[in-house]
Amino acid sequence: MADMSVAYSSSHGLGEEQSIWFKLTPLLNQENPMQVLMALSEKYSGVIPINLKTQRIMLLSEPAHAERVLVTNADNYTKYFDGLRPVFGRSMITIDGALWQKIRRPQQAAFHPNMFEDYFPYLMSAIETKMARWAEYAESGETVEMVEETWTLAAEMVCKALFDREMPFNPHFVFKQVKTYTDVMNHKSIRLKSVRGELAEVTEEETAKAMEIWGSIPETVIGANIVDHREKTLLNMILEAEADPDFPEFDRQQVIDELKQYLWAGTETTALTLAWSLYLLSQHPEAMERIRTEARAVCGDEDPSWNQVQQLSYTRMVIQETMRLFPPIWALIRIAAGDDEIEGHKIKAGDKVVILSYIAHHSSKYWDNPEKFDPERFAPERAKKRMKYSYLPFAAGKRACIGGALSQIENTLALVQLLRRFTPEYTGPVPAKIHATVTLSPKGGLPFRIRKL
Ligand code: HEM
Repeated sequence: MADMSVAYSSSHGLGEEQSIWFKLTPLLNQENPMQVLMALSEKYSGVIPINLKTQRIMLLSEPAHAERVLVTNADNYTKYFDGLRPVFGRSMITIDGALWQKIRRPQQAAFHPNMFEDYFPYLMSAIETKMARWAEYAESGETVEMVEETWTLAAEMVCKALFDREMPFNPHFVFKQVKTYTDVMNHKSIRLKSVRGELAEVTEEETAKAMEIWGSIPETVIGANIVDHREKTLLNMILEAEADPDFPEFDRQQVIDELKQYLWAGTETTALTLAWSLYLLSQHPEAMERIRTEARAVCGDEDPSWNQVQQLSYTRMVIQETMRLFPPIWALIRIAAGDDEIEGHKIKAGDKVVILSYIAHHSSKYWDNPEKFDPERFAPERAKKRMKYSYLPFAAGKRACIGGALSQIENTLALVQLLRRFTPEYTGPVPAKIHATVTLSPKGGLPFRIRKL
């Protein structure tokens, strides 16, 4: 049984000392945190119990564990979002039970696939903004940070397609504010930043300021220029729920929190997937070429039409394989409401349970040659043979991601359009280093140079 005694000095209230991310710092703050977790998981047969002074954390990595926690006994496991409240508020991603169901219901229709055709022109328009920017980068030859690039694209897609609003903020600035907060609350060590060559703690005021700016974004979005006066948008569904006199729970704060949630959950994950896929493609130029060949075969020299999107199947498989190798949400955290038993392991009420999607995705029990980049493993005939719950980029069960299907369309279109005009060249170290916090991001970013084709 793994035993970790963890001692931290006072933090003056900065971040969340009790947060699970702090507790796991000794495990995650390593040169290659995923390798360490995989070795431990192998040693302890898929169940790593971590006994701390006041609590127990169970790290689980088998598909059967995910099935129990996320699907068959999901009501026994509640969401864990300590430390992320300023980012998400009390939006639906953080709440449980009847209230979660009530808050989710009026928003669900915005994610039905029959809405995607409406979103299509706005997704394409956001990609055009990005292509104009990349044309400038290609001219100047400057180095760009790819996660920031893809985050700004994903943010514009959410604003235009789901809210019918022009993006009213500087996305590069907002991106930095959220990063300031999530970095600080995740890992004590990252509180130390370099100031004129000296290490200094990021101050409480800096994080407070970052979150104040973040908290003001939803109202700015609501008041921003309307793109097309569409009636059926996610923003209108949310505002109608607020206006419903029979729905007092959906007040203005709920509106603000739901918007914050979309501006983070709908951007960070989509952006990481696209950035990691460009990294993988830079290491596999033959796959990059295949995306271009597929695009030519399906659309000729034209931009894709909505009807052609489904035919871009290889591009989509690249996205799926990227989310297997680099799942943006690599760990799903729950708190056990009552006692349970998972595959012979006793879980006590109050235990924190962490489903390690990353390990299931990299297990040779469920994937041939798991470290190999092989998009074809998502071809329908091969995917059919996959072990259930061995692939969990969007989690599973009733709390699965509401935007999973939409994100794949966003990223398929982005890859096709960007790669037909540009070759992004990765200039960082290979393999890229992982930074495992709430999301799986590249340590120090992914530097690229953009070349025009
Ligand atoms: C590659 C892209 C994405 C990935 C990997 C991803 C992943 C996930 C995962 C793993 C969860 C479940 C978290 C948990 O159980 O603790 C989740 C929930 C959620 N995601 Fe996504 N997501 C993506 C894109 C999006 C997009 C585009 C949106 C919306 C615009 C979105 C909105 C949400 C919301 C609202 C929830 C909470 C659903 C609920 O609790 O009812 N996500 N996502």
